[in-house]
Amino acid sequence: MHVELPILKIRNLTKQYGDGCPNCLQENAKLEKNFCPICKTVFACKNVSIDLYRGEILGIVGESGSGKSTLMKSLYFDEEITAGAGYLEDFHSGSLNIFTQSEQQKRFIRNTLLGMVYQNPMLGLKMSFSSISNIAEKQISAGNRHVKNMVNRSNELLDKVNIPLKRSKEPPKNFSGGMQQRVQIAKALSSNPPILLLDEVTTGLDLSVQASVLDLIKTIQRELNISMIVVSHDLAVIRMLADRTIVMLNGQIIEQGLTDQILEDPQHAYTQQLVYSLL
Ligand SMILES: Nc1ncnc2c1ncn2[C@@H]1O[C@H](COP(=O)(O)OP(=O)(O)OP(=O)(O)O)[C@@H](O)[C@H]1O
Ligand SMILES: [Mg+2]
Ligand SMILES: [Zn+2]
Repeated sequence: MHVELPILKIRNLTKQYGDGCPNCLQENAKLEKNFCPICKTVFACKNVSIDLYRGEILGIVGESGSGKSTLMKSLYFDEEITAGAGYLEDFHSGSLNIFTQSEQQKRFIRNTLLGMVYQNPMLGLKMSFSSISNIAEKQISAGNRHVKNMVNRSNELLDKVNIPLKRSKEPPKNFSGGMQQRVQIAKALSSNPPILLLDEVTTGLDLSVQASVLDLIKTIQRELNISMIVVSHDLAVIRMLADRTIVMLNGQIIEQGLTDQILEDPQHAYTQQLVYSLL
């Protein structure tokens, strides 16, 4: 179906909390969900492989604790992975595993090739700094030094995410939840990354605010043709945004395909339950 190369490839990404034991490190490990009852190791992600293509929105859906945030944080180098590989088409033409690069190279990838919107805006923003300086911070990290350009670019982005320009000097702590997510989105976009990671970006917002943030994400994707991974426990959000969808359960991918296909004909019992609960 896809003729071009994936812009991002992840292969067998595993993230475990704990060292594991003879019970859980064997092929047919006996786990309680993602948890080894003998040594208490948590397998937050287990052998996760993903392809992301240019210009697409890939949805990741799964219940609480299924490993979605761990996957996003691992990709953004917030968490060190236990095993696996990742390749970016825009980093040495996808020939090098990003997870084995130096700290300096990882910073470069994070600052210029990726944008992240955290579920918790406290993780993504400095709440008492002005919104404009929050956005400039990412541009500085990406190597920008020209103040006037940065201010112009920040204002342009705030406008794009519908934050009134007269509020650009206010700190995010003055803003509503929906506005804080908009500032995070503006910040993530500020270095023109080819890939945007969005973790539960609308969770906890009012339905009407949710709708406007989802709308904004769609508009940005259309205008910038940026690739996105959208994570949510809410299949309704995924249905609105994602071309393709991956379903995670207990740290593993249990099903994937075109979003329409998954909604019409879910194969796995867990996915069936998710889809029927939407109706
Ligand atoms: N620092 C940690 N130490 C131990 N276990 C952890 C740690 N961080 C996450 N986990 C475990 O990893 C698993 C996956 O967590 P994760 O936050 O990735 O789930 P999620 O799918 O994002 O859930 P939610 O929908 O609630 O955000 C959970 O079982 C969680 O308890
Ligand atoms: Mg999460
Ligand atoms: Zn164990």
